[in-house]
Amino acid sequence: MQIWLDTADIGEIREASRLGVVSGITTNPSLAAKSGHSDLRTAIQEICSIIDGPVSAEVMGQGPYEMIEEGREIATWAPNVVVKIPVSEAGIEAISVLSKEGIAINQTLTFSVNQALLGALAGATYISPFVGRLDDVGQDGMMLISEMLQMFKVHEMQTKVIAASLRHPKHVIEAAKAGAQIATMPYKLFKQMFKHPLTDAGLKRFIEDWQSLVRV
Ligand code: G3P
Repeated sequence: MQIWLDTADIGEIREASRLGVVSGITTNPSLAAKSGHSDLRTAIQEICSIIDGPVSAEVMGQGPYEMIEEGREIATWAPNVVVKIPVSEAGIEAISVLSKEGIAINQTLTFSVNQALLGALAGATYISPFVGRLDDVGQDGMMLISEMLQMFKVHEMQTKVIAASLRHPKHVIEAAKAGAQIATMPYKLFKQMFKHPLTDAGLKRFIEDWQSLVRV
């Protein structure tokens, strides 16, 4: 399973990219606003120059024609840019048109297996189910990941699943075990993956033991 970061913060992306384990980035309008990017094109182009892998940039238009025009424009920003489109009738129409033009699409705001099926049939390269937001309303977000993966396997569909809206380290483990091809996560969660109290305690003891020997 690949790790992608769900952020538009250039500092976080630069720091994480140095570790060599982050393969892609997802952004959305909320994340772009939080990072203060008034010029999305410049921000996405900078992110695309830091990360070689796929970088998702979301359309803001509501109707199919706006989404299609915007998607075509976004696709020219960088070779590794992926156009992110929310699922809806307009979104599916836009995905159908853009995917036939060879544009990579990440279908976002996906909360059901039927929405995932529609996106796959329309030609989306990736589908992003929002695990944490389903958990928030008392549903089982990880169940959606498993059911989508099962459907794609049974029907030999090539669409990849991006486990999104992940909130804690166990979500990452569960997504990996279920077989999601990608987990996209906030920088804070990425950092949590490195930590274990026994690693910290063990390292402290190694250093203390070695220093006590050196002192003798
Ligand atoms: O990629 C999906 C993500 O941006 C939504 O996450 O935490 O706002 O539900 P969250």
